[in-house]
Amino acid sequence: HPIHLPHSHQPDFTALRELPDSYTWTPKDDILFAAAPSPPPATGETIPLIDLNHPDAANQIGLACKTWGAFQIANHGVPLELLQDIEFLTSSLFRLPVQRKLKAARSETGVTGYGVARIASFFNKQMWSEGFTISGSPLNDFRKLWPQLHLNYCDIVEEYEEQMRKLASKLMWLALNSIGVSEEDVKWARLNSDFNWAQAALQLNHYPVCPQPDQAMGLAAHTDSTLLTLLYQNNTAGLQVFRDDLGWVTVPPVPGSLVVNVGDLFHILSNGLFKSVLHRARVNQTRSRFSVAFLWGPQSDIRISSVPKLVSPVESPLYQSVTWAEYLKIKATHFNKALSMIRNH
Ligand code: SIN
Ligand code: FE2
Repeated sequence: HPIHLPHSHQPDFTALRELPDSYTWTPKDDILFAAAPSPPPATGETIPLIDLNHPDAANQIGLACKTWGAFQIANHGVPLELLQDIEFLTSSLFRLPVQRKLKAARSETGVTGYGVARIASFFNKQMWSEGFTISGSPLNDFRKLWPQLHLNYCDIVEEYEEQMRKLASKLMWLALNSIGVSEEDVKWARLNSDFNWAQAALQLNHYPVCPQPDQAMGLAAHTDSTLLTLLYQNNTAGLQVFRDDLGWVTVPPVPGSLVVNVGDLFHILSNGLFKSVLHRARVNQTRSRFSVAFLWGPQSDIRISSVPKLVSPVESPLYQSVTWAEYLKIKATHFNKALSMIRNH
């Protein structure tokens, strides 16, 4: 029997035994949907796991940014307890009854709150996931979800963002230093060395158990529009990164570690040397999955352009300079081609 879903809202995932047509993906819906590894990747080949305490960490990070556009980090200094707290908060949030979550639904024009993936409008099919976006203080949204507990939960979010902010800038400089770029070479960062040039958002994701995971998509293929994204994933695999030569490669969860994605703005800043990574999330038949993405980029008045040092003296930079806000607008109209749209030639 066909299952009828309310059009504007998430289905009650737990009640579905069979994938509704609107959630069944084929290569028509996403050309890379079934992109098989060809030739098959050597077993276990995936993005590197880098120990941040290793003396060679900066070079390993630089190399990973060039070859994969992603890596995992261990010994990043973020307390394990804080990662457990944010995972607990995330799972508690999504376990709330649908009606409660909808009280904090993201509005048509709003940024924060509960809803489907922001990229949903670029695809014909629906994604097997639900999300919650936090930008600035989550107090107002949390109050609608948890009349009692919101203050405690706000503290966790604040502490998590603080730790992520420190880590993101540290990673950016390690990557840049490894290719000979110092703070002196990045004007806006030099002028604002206390990092007040950065802004961020937190994206909580839930991928419920799915009756037919092979035909479903948790989060469709995309690149992040950030400088860097720091991703915490719970102990259920689902994240995959794409490489032309390998196809889709699963990023196995490593307890206590974080995944780092190169975003489009870091790609531009590095004049294409660091690759913004195409990635997606698949779903699972027996285990639900949670992830927390810290989306990190420059304040809206800062123009990102290729570091002059990285541009050959006889050529122009690969990309036009662009603010985060401008770039997001370009991406909203040219989703998959956003980077090529701002090429200089
Ligand atoms: C994301 O791309 O924002 C999340 C991916 C994931 O859940 O692993
Ligand atoms: Fe992403």
